[in-house]
Amino acid sequence: MKKLFAENILQGKVAFVTGGGTGITGGVARAFAEHGAKLAITSRKEENLAGMKATVEGFGGECFAVAADVRDFDAVEAAIAKTVEHYGKIDIVVNGAAGNFLCAAEQLSANGFGTVVDIDTKGTFNVCRASFEELKRSKGQILNISATLHYLATPMQIHVSAAKAGVDAITRNLSVEWGRHGIRVNGIAPGPIEDTEGMKRLLMPELKEKMMRKIPVGRFGRIADIENAALFLASDAANYVTGVTLVVDGGSWLLGTSLT
Ligand code: COA
Repeated sequence: MKKLFAENILQGKVAFVTGGGTGITGGVARAFAEHGAKLAITSRKEENLAGMKATVEGFGGECFAVAADVRDFDAVEAAIAKTVEHYGKIDIVVNGAAGNFLCAAEQLSANGFGTVVDIDTKGTFNVCRASFEELKRSKGQILNISATLHYLATPMQIHVSAAKAGVDAITRNLSVEWGRHGIRVNGIAPGPIEDTEGMKRLLMPELKEKMMRKIPVGRFGRIADIENAALFLASDAANYVTGVTLVVDGGSWLLGTSLT
């Protein structure tokens, strides 16, 4: 990918990224490391992290992999403590860990709904809460990966819509409560990103063609589009930006074509 930002834009920063092994958040993690950040990635299973660790170390970056389920506050606290022990600090926290599947509301069990809310919303709170003291020390920042599903209504996604609405509330609340500590809190809401596993599975050629016609900018998003938005928000260029969830969707949600 052609680099649009200075290669050292995140030099000296330590980024703790949940769900950073794969997908959109994996792209953000790799892009942060490519731009100078030292990376700590966490996922439920350590084997999900090996690929990203190898990629980052392959281009000479640093990557510390630590397994933790974001639903488990004690495990999150331990992962943060291990990261601080390893790097000495944390400057940037990215909440990317998420659960997702398609299911009609009348078929979704209470536990299915709760599981996604636990991972996305409670998980985001857990990680923010556990990293507060470190972020206060570093005057750091949080980036929450959200969605546009809940701006209108997205069938088969009631659980994720509710969970991401909660994530956006966390972004706004913490930006207000923690601004005085020098902590910025922002989010990114990706639209239809074509090079994710989920989208590849979902998008039959006919559906893709039909959807494409409804995306105002005339193309699907790429993970690189989210990486660039994340680099901007994480960098000093966004020093006066907080409490914002930046929509990166080519205008899709305005036409009700969100499919994330
Ligand atoms: N359809 C309907 N219900 C589902 C489901 C699906 N595809 N997948 C899970 N559930 C329900 C389960 O039936 C269970 O409810 P029940 O006890 O009433 O039966 C509940 O969700 C918990 O499922 P379980 O598999 O025990 O939870 P888990 O913690 O191991 O994993 C997910 C849950 C959502 C994380 C898992 O399904 C998953 O890995 N999904 C893909 C993750 C993903 O796509 N991440 C990228 C996000 S963009």
